[in-house]
Parts: sequence; structure tokens; C-alpha cells
Amino acid sequence: MGLYTLAVVAVLLSASRPLRGNCAGDVDNDLLPVVLVPGYGSSQLEARLTAAYEPPAPRCGARKGEGWFRLWPINHTAMRQNPADAPCFADQMSLVYDAVADDYGDAAGVVTRAPFFASTRGLIGWDRLVEQLEATGYRDGETLFGAPYDFRYSVAPRYYGRLAPLIESASSRNRGRPVVLVAHSQGCALAYQFLLSRPLAWRRRFVKHAVLLSAALGGFVEGMNILAAGMDYGLPNLAREATIRLARSQQSALWRLPTPIVFGDRPLVVTPDNNNTTYSAHQITEFLDAIGFPEGVRPYLTRVLPLWEALPPPMVPVTSMIGAGVSTPETFVYGGDGFTGRPKVAYGDGDGNINMASLVAVEKEWSGVEGQVLKVVRFPGAHHGDFLTVDFAVKKVVAEIHEVGRSVKLCSKTGMQRRAMQ
Ligand SMILES: *[C@@H]1O[C@H](CO)[C@@H](O)[C@H](O)[C@H]1NC(C)=O
Ligand SMILES: *[C@@H]1O[C@H](CO)[C@@H](O)[C@H](O)[C@H]1NC(C)=O
Ligand SMILES: *[C@@H]1O[C@H](CO)[C@@H](O)[C@H](O)[C@H]1NC(C)=O
Repeated sequence: MGLYTLAVVAVLLSASRPLRGNCAGDVDNDLLPVVLVPGYGSSQLEARLTAAYEPPAPRCGARKGEGWFRLWPINHTAMRQNPADAPCFADQMSLVYDAVADDYGDAAGVVTRAPFFASTRGLIGWDRLVEQLEATGYRDGETLFGAPYDFRYSVAPRYYGRLAPLIESASSRNRGRPVVLVAHSQGCALAYQFLLSRPLAWRRRFVKHAVLLSAALGGFVEGMNILAAGMDYGLPNLAREATIRLARSQQSALWRLPTPIVFGDRPLVVTPDNNNTTYSAHQITEFLDAIGFPEGVRPYLTRVLPLWEALPPPMVPVTSMIGAGVSTPETFVYGGDGFTGRPKVAYGDGDGNINMASLVAVEKEWSGVEGQVLKVVRFPGAHHGDFLTVDFAVKKVVAEIHEVGRSVKLCSKTGMQRRAMQ
């Protein structure tokens, strides 16, 4: 595998070697516009409470009628000072699934938004990458754009309806040059499904390259555990019911489930005291029933599974940068207390969050496909978030963005120089 990857990288690097010299003196104008698509939890969320809000405790209603306040990211300092606010946060952060409409929405009386669309200001955890890009000439709102979204939902047509015009206007502000899409984690799954939802001609016109960081196009095993055990975001003072509701009310939680095409028949969840029942990615429906979440079955079957039954190549050039060799939860074994107990965890290869099978799905499915340019770079020992936070990895990402930009040079003096990647 390792050797194979190196070979792929070497071939593609030689194919895309830039034509140096032709564009001298035009450095700033060489930049292709960049659009950043963040992962789960990496967009700010704001909320306001209307008169219709019914607080679970009086203090939760204190901000009624007071206008917008920051819901996400959590201010953990403030939460430690006032632990009684944690259940308020959990209540306001939870969505509601309307089974009749088969749709998700905010709880009654809670209105939310993801601010600063089109800017990098609404992104969380991208500061280092943004700083490095700015140090190499990029400017927020001119050549660099952020596409934050409400990460509790996923394949919201609403988001795609904003992302497409953002990409088009990023291009038109930059002399019609196509953009480099840079996505991380769940953002990769969104960016990928977004590309598939656009006509091929649109993709080729507007997207020069997609740089996928820590892409999990097959979900991850921890996604099952989150639905079984709930999610507390590191908050103290949350009842189990609140963590379960937080996890299960989010549409994106179903997007994180391991997919059959990537995980196959591997046992992912085991319950030894219940006749050793095992759940693979083929038994998600049974699993959702077993954990007491039958309401999840329909949206899973109608809204999520159909999107991930195949992984066709997006047919725009892709660079996939992944970590490897970090111990990652691979099997959850629930004991005598069933799904309410603490599971034993068996670990396997991955980036600490995402299992190797999911990280390599891009390579497995797209390498060798005619017309699909693919470069895969593995970073042994790199964790899931390192491409945004660790200097060495951030620099590699920035270098990659500039590298793919060099393969399309538009030079004012010599006219258009195009060096297509083979
Ligand atoms: C977080 O809360 C603390 C304590 O209430 C406050 O001093 C601080 O300004 C808050 N931080 C942000 C970013 O709002
Ligand atoms: C275990 O399997 C046996 C035999 O198939 C069955 O009779 C029993 O009900 C099962 N127990 C549970 C807890 O599912
Ligand atoms: C489950 O499998 C283990 C290991 O194979 C075995 O020791 C145990 O008896 C089994 N338990 C049940 C309830 O079948």
C-alpha cells in the first residue's frame, strides 16, 4: 500500500510540474480562489429565543427576547462557572425530527443561524491554515472564502443552494478562474455529495481541484457508539437523556454511521450477553432498533443510505491527505448493562477518529478510474485534526493548494497558459 501510494504521488507530481518562467512578475495574480468547507462542529452557531420557547428550567429562558447569542462553540470556562447552564445548552442545541414531514428543525421557540457565510470568520479551528494562506497572499473575501453551515444538519439542499453561488462568485471575482475546494472531515462528505449533485460541466468549469483533508467517505465506527451512548461535548452535569437527545436529534449523526460499501461485514458493535449479537454496517437498521432509536430508521433508509451505496468519482481532480497509524476505535463491545453501560473498545488503524477503511475509501474507489486525477498523501502518525492545527501538516496543505494552482496559470502578459493535469 505504502509503495503504491508513493508511486501515485510521484507520477502525478511529474505530470503537474509547473511551467516556470512564463508567469514571472505576476505572483499575486497566480492565486486560484479557495473555498473552505469545514467539518462537524467547525462553524459558529448563533441562537435567539422567542416567546414560544418553553425552557426546561427557568434559567434556560433568561435570554428570551434578548436577540442573538452565541450557541456554538461552547464557552467551557463559563460552563464550569455555571454548570446549571449545561442542560439549557443541550436543550437549545437539540433539533426536533418531524416524522410526518420527514424533516428536522429547531425546537419550538429556538431560532438558529450559522453567521459569516462566505468569510473565514465563521469557521472554528481553521485559524492556522487561514493565517498561512494569508501569509502566502490570500485575502478573506477576495481570494479566500469560508462556507460555514449548521453542522447538525447534513445534506441540506439549502446549503448547496448557497455553496454553488459562493463558488460561482468566487470565480467571477477572480477573472473567471475555477476554485480550489478545501474540505475537512465531514466537510469532505458534504463537498463530495455537493459535487455529485452538480452537472459535470459545472464542476469542470468552477472547481479546479478538491483538496480533501481527513476525508471519511464511509463514516466511522464511533458514529454508532455516539448514537448508542449519546454525546456530551465534554459538558458536566448532563443527564443521559440529554446526551442521547443531543446525539440522536441531529441529522448529521446518521451521516457518520459506517457504510456497507466501505465497512462490509466487519463486526462493529458486539453484545456478548445477548447471544453475541453482532452488528456490521449491513445491520444499521437492526442496530438503531436495538439501541431504542427506531425513529432513526426511516431517515437513515430514505435520506442517508441511498447517498452512500456507491462512491462514484467526482471527476474533478482530487488530493486526499490522510493520517494513519493512530489507534482508532474499531469495535465496541457492550456488556451486561446493554447499551446503557460503558462499552469495551477494540482499537485499529486510523487517524484517531476515522477508521482506515473509511480514510482509504477515496483511493480504493477512484484510483485508476479513467479521467479521475487523484493524488493521495498519507501522513503516518497524523491525527484527524492535524491538517488544521499542526504546523508541519498545515504547511503541506498550503503547499498543495499552491501546487494545484500552478497547474492553471493565467498570465496577463502572455495570455492564457494552461497546463492541464493528466
Ligand atoms: C467565556 O466565559 C468567560 C467567563 O464567563 C468570559 O470571561 C469570556 O469572555 C467568555 N469567552 C468568550 C469568547 O465569550
Ligand atoms: C438467544 O438465542 C436462543 C436460541 O436461538 C433464543 O432462544 C434466545 O431467546 C436468545 N436470547 C436472547 C436474549 O436474544
Ligand atoms: C459469546 O462468545 C464468547 C466467545 O466466543 C463465548 O465465550 C460466550 O459463551 C458467548 N456467549 C453467549 C451468550 O453465547
